[in-house]
This record gives sequence, structure tokens and C-alpha cells, in this order.
Amino acid sequence: MDQLVRHAPAVLAAGLAVVTLRAFPFSWTGDDDSLQTAPSKAIITELEDETGDLEVENEDGSVKPVHVQWRHISCVLMDKSENVKKQVLKGISGEAKPGRLLAIMGPSGSGKTSLINVLAGQLPASNRMRLTGHLFINGLPVRNAKRTVAYVRQEDLFFSQLTVRETLALAAELQLPKNVDKEKYVDDLLKRLGLAGCADTIVGDKKVRGISGGEKKRLSIACELIASPSIIFADEPTTGLDAFQAEQVMETLRQLALDGHTVICSIHQPRGSIYAKFDDLILLSNGSLVYMGPAGEKALKYFEHIGYKCPEHENPAEFFADLISIDYSSPEREEITHKKLEQVVKIFKSQMAEALNGLEGIGDTGGVIVKSSSLKPNRPRIGWWKQFRILLRRAWLQATRDGPTNKVRGMMSVSSALIFGSIFWRMGLLQTSIQDRLGLLQVAAVNTAMAALTKTVNVFPKERTIIQQERTKGSYDLVPYLLSKLVAEAPISAAFPLAFGCLVYPMTRLHPSLSRFLRFSGIITVESFAASAMGLTVGSIAPSVEAASALGPSIMTVFIVFGGYYVNEQNTPIIFRWLPKVSMIRWAFQALCINEFRGLKFIKEKSFDVKTGEEALDRLSFGNTTLREAIVQEGRIALFWYYLTYFFLKRNKPKYQEFEALPQPSALAQCSRATGMSEEEFTDGIAKAINSRAEEDEVRERTSTLASVKEDEVELSDEGKNAL
Ligand SMILES: Nc1ncnc2c1ncn2[C@@H]1O[C@H](COP(=O)(O)OP(=O)(O)O)[C@@H](O)[C@H]1O
Ligand SMILES: [Mg+2]
Repeated sequence: MDQLVRHAPAVLAAGLAVVTLRAFPFSWTGDDDSLQTAPSKAIITELEDETGDLEVENEDGSVKPVHVQWRHISCVLMDKSENVKKQVLKGISGEAKPGRLLAIMGPSGSGKTSLINVLAGQLPASNRMRLTGHLFINGLPVRNAKRTVAYVRQEDLFFSQLTVRETLALAAELQLPKNVDKEKYVDDLLKRLGLAGCADTIVGDKKVRGISGGEKKRLSIACELIASPSIIFADEPTTGLDAFQAEQVMETLRQLALDGHTVICSIHQPRGSIYAKFDDLILLSNGSLVYMGPAGEKALKYFEHIGYKCPEHENPAEFFADLISIDYSSPEREEITHKKLEQVVKIFKSQMAEALNGLEGIGDTGGVIVKSSSLKPNRPRIGWWKQFRILLRRAWLQATRDGPTNKVRGMMSVSSALIFGSIFWRMGLLQTSIQDRLGLLQVAAVNTAMAALTKTVNVFPKERTIIQQERTKGSYDLVPYLLSKLVAEAPISAAFPLAFGCLVYPMTRLHPSLSRFLRFSGIITVESFAASAMGLTVGSIAPSVEAASALGPSIMTVFIVFGGYYVNEQNTPIIFRWLPKVSMIRWAFQALCINEFRGLKFIKEKSFDVKTGEEALDRLSFGNTTLREAIVQEGRIALFWYYLTYFFLKRNKPKYQEFEALPQPSALAQCSRATGMSEEEFTDGIAKAINSRAEEDEVRERTSTLASVKEDEVELSDEGKNAL
């Protein structure tokens, strides 16, 4: 019972922290959605020419035309025993031309996102995935993802407290060369994308209303356009928008195509007026190509020609959607639609062979595989100091403008101070007050750490996604980013523990001296930074906010247990002895105890009673340490967590799937002639063999055919040769 009473305050604090965490998942931060999500995805790829300079715009400002072609792209998912589990893409060929809007349509799960990712060189890497095929950009084969790429993921995030103009201006300052007039550039971009009307509205989130969904989508396109890339990928840019906004977003993309960009977007089920904007169309079903060619009348004619006529006045998009979807309403319907689809795919395959002949000759430009070495990864354009200043401004605006979050954090600090202040109301100098003091100081340490941790883990995983995208574009380095974040958030992060201290200290009558009070506040502030730094580390490894919110408090609980109050370090089993040394709670608690007890005199009633504060410290094994040492340790812990954050952010860069080696198309054509197989059968065979690595004999047989094709006639890449 005595134990229970002794532990009650700390348990209460931990309990309060956990309850707060559960009840208000974003109460400490309010920031759960402060980094707003827009479902659109725009992926833009920049190319570099042989000299390595950005091939972005011609001198007159017009967009450099970029032609993208792809052949036999197959993407296979394997299971643990290396058997094919699912064919995500089945030998897809096609092309996207500059100045044209290409739409990829198909039911969900048909492989639209995968195809866009492959074309953008941004297919997330996986050991279980095999990607084969050819991708050519302006006739040059490209094999890996290390070309200069700007990529906005499906979850498209912004700093919610910045206005539209500020968002674009910051991106422009980070990405554009010095000689560009950024203000004019941003103004032009705002006008071009129809964002001028909402330029000074904040992006907003669930708590504070900002711009609309359609505007958000256009803002994300604008952000991607800053580097003026030639190719624009957009994955389902209209999903989640109402008809009017969807129309506007698609009109923006059409305009960009008219400006000379190569625009590739996927779309689920567009209305007729949106369908009318497409120049070219790809229909995918279950990973197979059903159609690739001009949209509009020509596509309808093709299907009419093969026996599927679109009824008059029907939206062609709906007609296609019905045609390429499998009807699961009954087993019979499923079989019928399946068969129909197989037939349509087969017919197109045979038609495609002819069309592919038109693509023959691509990649015969010497069979060069463009390697990462000849394509420099993006480097920030400006120095660290400038990056730091720009990022500091952004972090400061985000932190200070977020009124609702700060209000909730303030309220939580004040209310917990009032609760603990009332529980430990005016502790005297009786023997029992020693225990009360220890309880209160432990509670203060736990409460401060939990508040800082919870706020950070609720926000950082989302922010991490933004910074990873920006860093892929080469906008800035990690060090200036982390420093700017630390500096901008320091005053706000310090304000809440200070508010807590200002109330609790006088209410409970802790050691009554101004210098002691200031030290008390200093200690909990440093502790709060250490906990926040730990939150950053957790946020940089956890895949989501939910995972971070589960992981962070669990680690913190261990530190609480070894916080110097529950377990005496000397009684800890040897294998756990290091834990108190790295527990931010323990060092904060130790520093608070030294600050409080040194110089205090207690009322002695019995002979074995504690007379001085020093004696009390001895009993806690804190007698031999100094306040300075404890604070230095706390600082080291904060630095350690900052360093780990840096390390994980640096290491956990997104990785993208590369194409596996396959022979060049010209070689393929000859092999197909030599073996009497179709090119696709031949490629599929090699791809499968590479995949399973079990059909080696077959590979050898096929590749010997390939080897017998005269070397001077066929340009094989080194990788191609190695594969054979
Ligand atoms: N990395 C992956 N792991 C498991 N399944 C995947 C992976 N990538 C794609 N798929 C599967 O491939 C299919 C196509 O996915 P996706 O390209 O996202 O389709 P769409 O965008 O048309 O809805 C889906 O069934 C999806 O579950
Ligand atoms: Mg998709």
C-alpha cells in the first residue's frame, strides 16, 4: 500500500500522459493534419543532356520536347519461394509524345500507378519484385531511377500554415538559380495555374480551413513545375474532387500539354468532358494492355472494328470502363467478362506487333544504357547559410501560425500544472514532504518528456515525407534543415514547460529561491528538447504517424522505469545498468532533485529521520553528482537523438526499382525471327527465367540464339551481354 501511495504521483503522470495521447491523438501538437494531404500525385521528371546540365527549357523559355517510349514492360511480384505471385504489368509497350496529354485508364488494381511509377523511374524497390523491359527517353535507353527527378507521392503534403504564395516562393528560392526573378516567376506560375485568387490564403488543414481540394491539387502541380520539367506525371489527379474542380485540374494539365510538356496521367472514370481533353489513351486491365493509341474517335473506331460499338450518346470513358472491367456479380458473368477481356487483349497484342514495328529503331542509337554516373543526382543550388535562412522562415511560420495547436498545448501544460499543483499543494518541510517532493519532481520530468515526445511523433512522420520529396529534388541538405527546425521550434517548445514550471513551482512551494526556480525551468526545458529529439528519431524510422505514436511512448516507458525513482541504479541487473545512463527522465529527475534538495533542512522527529537535503540525495545515490554533470548528460542525450535522426533520414532515402537486363529491341527482333517466337514470347521467357532463376537451361538455349546473331548487326548493352 505504501508503495502504491509512493508511486501514485508518477503513475498518475504517466497515466495522464497516456490518456491524453489516446483521447486527443493530436492534442499536444494539434498538428496531426497540419501538414495537409491532397490525394493527387504529380510526378515530374527532368532530364539531363550529355553535358549534365538540366535540359529544362529552351532559351526562349519554351519547353524542351521529350518523347517517352517503353517496350515490353513487365513487373512481377514473387512470393518467398521465388514463384510468381502476381503479374502487375504484363509486357506493356507504348509511347508518350510532347505536347500531348496521355491518359491511362483502367479499373482500380489494373496497374495504372505501377505503370506511372515505372515510367517516372519511381517504382518503390522491393526484393520480391522483378522489373523488365525497355524505357527510352528521346531515343536513349534509361535503366535506373537516378536521373534528375521531381516526384510528388500519392500523399501530397504541404506545410499547412503557409499561404499558397509562400509555399511556391519558398520552393522557388530553394530550387531556382540566382539570376531568376523569383517574385515574377511565382506570380506567373500562380496565374498560369489559376491560383492567383487564393494566393494569400493559407493551405490549411482539418482544423483551420484553407484552400479547396482542387486548388491544393493545382498547387502541387505548381510546386512540381518550379523546376520546369518537360514530363509531367499525375496519378489520379481528379480523385476526390467534385466535377467542377476535376475539370479545372484536367484543364490545367491539358494547357501544360499545349505548352509543350509531355503529360501522362492516370484517371479512374472521367466524365465525357474530361475524356474529350485526352489526346492519347492507354487502357489497362489486370496488368494487360487493352488499347494504346489516340483517344477520341479513333479509339472508338478501333473497338467498333473489333466488334464492340459504343452506343451513341454514351460517355466513351464509361463504355471503356464497362468493357475492361470484370463483372464479379456471378460466377457465370465473371467467366464471360474474363473471356471477353482475354480476347480483346489478344486482338490488341496482334495489332500492337504492327505498331511496334513503328517503334523499331528506338534504342539503336548505339545501345547506350544511360548510367547513373552520367546523370548527376540533384545537388542543392544554394549554400547552407541561405538554405538555413529559408528553412528557418518556413519552420517559424509553421510553428507560430499554428494557433489551435499551440492553444491546446498551452492548455494541457496549464491544466497539468494545476492538477499537480493541487495534489502537491504547499509541501512543507516535514519528513513526509521528502517523498512528496520526489513524487512531484518525477511527475514533472515524466510529464514534460511525454508532452514533447507526443507532439513530435504526431507531426514528424508527415513532415519527413515532405522533406524526403524535397531532398530528392535536391532542394536542400539535411544539416541546415535540422538546424533550422531546432532553432525555429526552440522558443515555442520552451514556452510550454516554462508555463508548467511557473504555475507548479509556487503552488507546491518547491525550494523558494529565484535562482532555483530558474534552474528548475532550465532543466525541464533541456529535457523537453531531448524528448523532442527522440520523437524526431522515432518519426524518422516509423512508417506512419500511428506507428510512431505506438513506438515513441513504449520506448519512453522504459526510460520512465529507469527514471531514478522506481528502481535504484545500484539494484538494477547488470544488463540493464546502461539504461538509466541514457534515460532523459533519470537525468532530468536527478538534476531536479539536486536543485531542490541541496541546502534544504527538514524537521527531524525521530533519530533515523533525514535531516538535510543532502542526506535525502544520498539515499537516492545522487549524493556524489553535480547539477552540471546531470545537465551535460541531458544535453548529450539530446545530441545523440539529433544525430540518430540525421543518420536515419540520411540512410532511409526512398529506393526505386531498376530494370533487369534484357537484350536491346533490335536484337530482340532478330531473335524473334530466328526462333519463330513472337518478341513478347521471347522476352517473357527470358524475364521469367531471370525471375525464377530456375529455368537456366531455357535461358541458355534462348540466349545462344541471341549470341549467334551477328555482333555487328546488334548493339547489345553490357548489361544485356552479362545477362546472357
Ligand atoms: N509492391 C507491391 N506489393 C504488392 N502488391 C502490389 C505492389 N505493387 C502493386 N501491387 C498490386 O498490383 C496491382 C496494381 O496496382 P496499382 O498499380 O496500384 O493499380 P491501380 O493504380 O490501377 O489501382 C494491385 O493489385 C496491387 O495490389
Ligand atoms: Mg492507383
